[in-house]
Amino acid sequence: MKKTILITGSTDGIGKLAALKMAKEGHQVYLHGRNADKLEKVIAELKHKSGNEDIDGFVADFSDLGQVHKMAKEVSAKISALDVLINNAGVFKSQHPITQDGYDIRIVVNYFAPILFTNAILDIIQKSKEPRIINLSSAAQSSVSLDLLNGNITMSDQEAYAQSKLAILMWSFYLAQQESNIAVVALNPGSLLNTNMVREAYGRFWSSADKGADIIYDLALIKPIAEMDGKYFDNDRGEFGPAHADAYNAEKVLNLIQNTEDIVNAG
Ligand SMILES: NC(=O)c1ccc[n+]([C@@H]2O[C@H](COP(=O)([O-])OP(=O)(O)OC[C@H]3O[C@@H](n4cnc5c(N)ncnc54)[C@H](OP(=O)(O)O)[C@@H]3O)[C@@H](O)[C@H]2O)c1
Repeated sequence: MKKTILITGSTDGIGKLAALKMAKEGHQVYLHGRNADKLEKVIAELKHKSGNEDIDGFVADFSDLGQVHKMAKEVSAKISALDVLINNAGVFKSQHPITQDGYDIRIVVNYFAPILFTNAILDIIQKSKEPRIINLSSAAQSSVSLDLLNGNITMSDQEAYAQSKLAILMWSFYLAQQESNIAVVALNPGSLLNTNMVREAYGRFWSSADKGADIIYDLALIKPIAEMDGKYFDNDRGEFGPAHADAYNAEKVLNLIQNTEDIVNAG
């Protein structure tokens, strides 16, 4: 059956590869990127490679929550029912690690933005018969400092990234509990896959980017919902769980979500 799918951060890396795979099977695919020219080129490329004209896209720099909010409005105006949302856009290294609002860019792009975006389009996701949300985490997971979250301190690229990736995982578990009719899964797509992010961060890679795209595709379209809802899939192990202990600590999850909502709702 033809599905309507939106993948954030799909102008490159595993998001782009997953989008192509889905487009080749005739699904309606919405891309997202921060650069309008690059997005237009990728839409044209994927249409050409897939032979599917049902590909469109949205532009927003996720380091600016105002742009995330604006994009959510555009998405809601254009899409009546969204079957699959893949919160994939992510950053590790940046020339400007602190955003204009004074937060760490990993926290904003990898954590605040997907929460703001998802919450703002929940009604069109709920209109799908079998909705799924896939949240990109990582094997890199480190206890979240509220001082980092609030922009009071700075940290190394690796530490800020690992905290943002545990944060989205904790929120993913929380969202799964809140939204019983949506299948929500957190995903480590595999470590050191061959993408720009990894080459820039480490100068080397372990596995092909296809490994990450294939598991995104599988969770988005193939895996039975009952098997994945509320879980964490670790593609280094090729199976579900376990995640960092903080993700199973209800008090820590609630504390994180309360602090997050204050910031995201003010943005
Ligand atoms: N590769 C791995 O080994 C690995 C491992 C664990 C988790 N992950 C996660 O998988 C996801 C995809 O990563 P990837 O490896 O495919 O990286 P990538 O090739 O660098 O792709 C990242 C995507 O996010 C977009 N993006 C970056 N900053 C953005 C911003 N400020 N606003 C909007 N979009 C932005 C990029 O846009 P541009 O095209 O403009 O750059 C690109 O489309 C990330 O969430 C990452 O943390 C990857």
